Amino acid sequence: MRSILVTGAAGFIGSNFVRMLVNRAEPVKLVAFDKLTYAGNLANLDDLLKKDKHLVFVKGDICDQSTLERVWDEHGITEVVHFAAESHVDRSIISSGPFIHTNVVGTQVLLDVARAKKVDKFLQVSTDEVYGTLPYDQKEVMFTETTPLEPNSPYSASKAAGDCLVRSYFHTHHMPVLTTRCSNNYGPYHFPEKLIPLFVTNLMEGKKVPLYGDGLNIRDWLYVEDHCDAIWTVLNKGRFGEVYNIGGNNEITNRVITETILREMNCPWDQHVTYVQDRAGHDRRYAIDASKIKNELGWTPKHRFETAIKTTIQWYRDHEAWWRNVKSGEYLKYYETQYVNR
Ligand code: NAD
Ligand code: DAU
Repeated sequence: MRSILVTGAAGFIGSNFVRMLVNRAEPVKLVAFDKLTYAGNLANLDDLLKKDKHLVFVKGDICDQSTLERVWDEHGITEVVHFAAESHVDRSIISSGPFIHTNVVGTQVLLDVARAKKVDKFLQVSTDEVYGTLPYDQKEVMFTETTPLEPNSPYSASKAAGDCLVRSYFHTHHMPVLTTRCSNNYGPYHFPEKLIPLFVTNLMEGKKVPLYGDGLNIRDWLYVEDHCDAIWTVLNKGRFGEVYNIGGNNEITNRVITETILREMNCPWDQHVTYVQDRAGHDRRYAIDASKIKNELGWTPKHRFETAIKTTIQWYRDHEAWWRNVKSGEYLKYYETQYVNR
């Protein structure tokens, strides 16, 4: 049986990926591996761990070689899907150290163990942010897999470094690697420091929503289940050494995202939106050309934004205990630094 190590499995996308595989009842063993940083939450996996005997959870750090080796031997790992990362741009602006540690050093340690253990497949889950930013007024210009890497934040620089290491292990060591680069995800279990879950939960708490700069920055939004499905497609059908861009063909400004959420939650703009100081180095526009994964592997997104954003907002209404628990402790200190004391 395939035995897949899923790093960062207690985070937003990792837990959705595990959920997708458990619900599909694929005949695979899943080893959910996570350090449980502020962003990792075992509550994201609890119900799955109770219901699937092929799923196990291991608390561990991808920078810790001996723990990885032990897990490998114990569970006979054959493949790796590498989600684990420090993932929030704003936190990388406050302090970049943890990003270099996990996203660069952690990826190197994981690659070395995977190589020594002769892994069958290693999939690096990366981001469109490694390509930098796009012109606002040339809508035909999008990120392709050959767009040069021009990361602009410490977060995207650390992800680009991880991607370059993965590439180098293919060329130097002939490791069976795959890389995916996806646009902005939204959906259930999204940590409420990111735009959509922050705005939805702030409104539920009766707080204002902080829009950066002029609110006209553009992101290409993709429902998380579509991203997970694309990763599974690339893991099963992708060509080693290749990069596959994943996107929703769904460019939306932050203002329109905000209007959509406010409308859905019956909150008038004037009473609920506050423009705040822009993010330093804020990338203006991201847009993905996903024709390679479509033409080569037959993947296209299945969810429409208009419907999936409603499903997402409803999920936060139905899971108030989940996000109230997350928005406590360390989160409140971060919120003060990021939004109150700047
Ligand atoms: P997240 O912050 O929700 O989850 C990251 C997880 O990694 C957490 O559970 C955390 O505990 C774990 N982790 C962090 N450091 C670790 C370490 N040293 N060892 C083991 N586990 C560690 O992030 P996410 O949004 O789910 O993103 C997952 C991956 O997808 C990241 O690599 C990110 O760069 C990439 N990505 C995210 C998006 C997006 O829109 N969220 C889009 C494209 C790509
Ligand atoms: O593009 C993929 C990337 O998407 C992933 O690699 C990252 O891990 C993920 O966090 C996300 O990065 P962004 O910086 O685009 O996401 P975020 O939700 O932080 O911000 C989305 C947009 O909303 C961005 O233009 C900044 C703006 N924003 C964000 C926050 C948190 C606000 O206007 N106000 C806010 O409070």
